[in-house]
Amino acid sequence: MLAFLAEAVDDYVSGEVISGKLGLTRAAVWKHVCSLRSRGYRIEALPARGYRLAEVPDRLGALELKPLLNTHDLGQVLHCLEEVPSTNDLAKELAEQGAVHGEVVVAERQTAGRGRRGRSWSSPAGKNLYLSVVLRPQLPPQRAAELTLVASLAVCDACRQAGVDAGIKWPNDVLVGGRKVAGILTELGAEPDEVHWMVVGIGVNLNAIREDFPEELRGQATSLALERGQPVPRALFAAALLALLEEWLDRHAEEGFQAVREAWRARSATLGREVRVEVDGAELIGVAEDLDETGALLVSRKGGRVRVVAGDVRLLRAR
Ligand code: BTN
Repeated sequence: MLAFLAEAVDDYVSGEVISGKLGLTRAAVWKHVCSLRSRGYRIEALPARGYRLAEVPDRLGALELKPLLNTHDLGQVLHCLEEVPSTNDLAKELAEQGAVHGEVVVAERQTAGRGRRGRSWSSPAGKNLYLSVVLRPQLPPQRAAELTLVASLAVCDACRQAGVDAGIKWPNDVLVGGRKVAGILTELGAEPDEVHWMVVGIGVNLNAIREDFPEELRGQATSLALERGQPVPRALFAAALLALLEEWLDRHAEEGFQAVREAWRARSATLGREVRVEVDGAELIGVAEDLDETGALLVSRKGGRVRVVAGDVRLLRAR
């Protein structure tokens, strides 16, 4: 019924036409209208003209998202869920079962949202974006990490389009004013010389307010709404993000990592900063000098230059 109403944008559809097309009695149509209204849809009803969909709620359902998508692959197969343990877990399952390149899982809420390094990801209902994309890149597994950096460009650009001055902390945290607004968790199914699938999981704090974050994160996390002073239409943000991600993936496929590297440098909140890097329990303090041609972070310190391929970076002070 919603799809039917949504098709007639800005116009009334008569109750008679709806009941005819959907095979429902007029009373059943009315019942559906009431139920939709109770879920936040504003549906106007005029006795002589019928029903008009005046406003959709702030939801991330296929009905809200699909019409906004401007992509050739990403989100063309779309799984929208009210609640899921983790969109990454579901996307991985789907990938194992043969999901196509670009298949997307989105949820209103995660009950076991996962972050990097075994951490959890705060995922309150109806506030933020929790999205995972299945990719089937033509890349050897050694180069898969490049796509995580590609994703960070898309997330950073989407945040900038929403009007906040976002930057990237190596490898792929998106920060605003030193606080984290988005994170990316990439997982891989591969053989030594071939990637079977990749799941890029993206969490963006869109409309969370301070109280929505667990207390221990309040000093380090923020949301786009907190930063720009007004809420973000979530479906619009998700559609823009998928379009940007697809653009960057295409560019990476056509031009290789060099184009990504330059764009990453231009958005970096890390380069030139003194950093503390935790690698396998050991700690390293130095200045983040550059992103190398494989995506590793080059940190210089007294003893020389260290190439960091994985680790947790904390920004200390500007040089
Ligand atoms: C991090 O910065 O630690 C990565 C956070 C990634 C969170 C997203 S939310 C959607 C997807 N599903 C998950 O369980 N995690 C990722």
